[in-house]
Amino acid sequence: MGKLEDEIKRRRTFAIISHPDAGKTTLTEKFLLYGGAIAQAGAVKGKKNSRHAVSDWMEIEKQRGISVTSSVMQFQYKNYCINILDTPGHQDFSEDTYRTLMAADSAVMVIDASKGVENQTRKLFKVCVMRHIPIFTFVNKMDRESRNPFDLMEQIESELGIQTYPVNWPIGSGKEFKGVYDRDKKHIISFEASGGQHQVAATEVDLSDPSLDSLIGEDLHSTLCDDIELLDGASYEFDIEKVRKGELSPVFFGSALTNFGVEPFLENFLEMTTSPTPRNSSAGIIDPFDPEFSAFVFKIQANMNKAHRDRITFLRICSGKFDKDMEVLHVQGNKKLRLSQPQQIMAQEREIIDEAYAGDIIGVFDPGIFAIGDTICSPKKKFEFESIPTFAPEHFMRVRQKDTLKRKQFVKGTTQIAQEGAIQIFHEPDSGMEEVIVGVVGVLQLEVFEYRMKNEYNVDLFKEGLPYSYIRWIDNKDIDPKTLKLSSDTKLVKDFRDNYLLLFTSEWNIRWALERNEGLELSEFNRGD
Ligand code: G4P
Repeated sequence: MGKLEDEIKRRRTFAIISHPDAGKTTLTEKFLLYGGAIAQAGAVKGKKNSRHAVSDWMEIEKQRGISVTSSVMQFQYKNYCINILDTPGHQDFSEDTYRTLMAADSAVMVIDASKGVENQTRKLFKVCVMRHIPIFTFVNKMDRESRNPFDLMEQIESELGIQTYPVNWPIGSGKEFKGVYDRDKKHIISFEASGGQHQVAATEVDLSDPSLDSLIGEDLHSTLCDDIELLDGASYEFDIEKVRKGELSPVFFGSALTNFGVEPFLENFLEMTTSPTPRNSSAGIIDPFDPEFSAFVFKIQANMNKAHRDRITFLRICSGKFDKDMEVLHVQGNKKLRLSQPQQIMAQEREIIDEAYAGDIIGVFDPGIFAIGDTICSPKKKFEFESIPTFAPEHFMRVRQKDTLKRKQFVKGTTQIAQEGAIQIFHEPDSGMEEVIVGVVGVLQLEVFEYRMKNEYNVDLFKEGLPYSYIRWIDNKDIDPKTLKLSSDTKLVKDFRDNYLLLFTSEWNIRWALERNEGLELSEFNRGD
């Protein structure tokens, strides 16, 4: 029992989120560097313009030049065992990105100091808030001209609706960046630009030390004293309970590229965040320290090898310990089985593993039996974890098969790909299965869908892009959706569970529908129960 408890306690499983280019890859790389998982900076992110990070580990994706998935890395730092869940950005953004957040116990949000909160951060942030997980902010690129740090705090608080607590505070920025002041330890760590290959040695000086004038300059010294006075008087108090509930975000300033402020951030973060948290299930709360194994499926990576049609299913372990040869129960399939080729990604390699603990993420070969949200547990138990919500797609396309004789393949392909969670499919209320509306979170998913329909199911598609960008589930169970008053460019559709939804072209149309239909309740996530 002692070992199980120790192993679980030392685990930290978090997602790292940012708008593209804020510095997520660079920061991840520095974490790996401190953990000794890579020997030198630059190993994760290759040369200029090469976007192959460790996270783009699927060879097939590299060949296609795309990354359809979010991925996971494990490494050790001091006594901690850390699982980082990467959330892809740019065109790779997909529903998988959201689902990854369901597997994390906390999130690290990287913000570009000159840009502040950007669109993609906002979207991912909403999911973190829905889950009430702790959120830690790293304000990056302080070695460049930044926005006023007070304005940045104000923006995070007003746009994201979370309180902030700056753990450290920057002294200047850009060419004038001198370092940060640690509010708790009440000392200064001065900035030394380095090539970013090694950890920067910190110079520590007390705020009242007269030598500060010569270290950071008189002006910055006096600005710093004023700033700290203002912060101590006006900002929120530090409250670890609020941090753990996701109500207060500890904020750190630094520069990932020059390695400044990264290690203090990592250390504070690991201490303040939680070890694996309990999860809700049909049998009540599941304690991570319960020795019986349990896990849920949060991601399915299909067809990495076209010849074999294999899939890898990713599990987040929620309790106990996993052993390679153990028998488990797949609850939704009501079948006992052994998980085949369990593996983990350790920095740059995939490794077959013998054991794993609550908090860990493992990939297993899937003969096509698992679905997103499924529960896998010790045969001594039988319960289902809370379902993973369905997230609102933002791009829609109407599709049907070119060759009408391929109807069966068309239905099979669209249904299977939807079951894997790569796309969502909708129907107009009175149409048959021969025409579907495909909805996705990121446009790349549409390309992947078309590619897979052709290559795996041998079906060519007629496609028609649709102008909708917003979808809302109708929560009211007691109204006939066909009687709703809707603007002419709003469409009523059904999902595969026969839930009614509305497709809108603008937020203005959503408001219009809510105003004209009293009592109408719409939601952006569907919990599926
Ligand atoms: P992402 O994963 O969030 O998309 O961001 P990534 O780490 O790839 O960083 C985006 C760009 O910002 C990179 O430059 C990176 O070197 C730079 N960067 C990251 N952190 C810092 C920082 O603290 N200070 C400064 N000045 N720059 C930073 P790039 O030119 O796009 O890439 P590269 O080809 O130079 O690697």
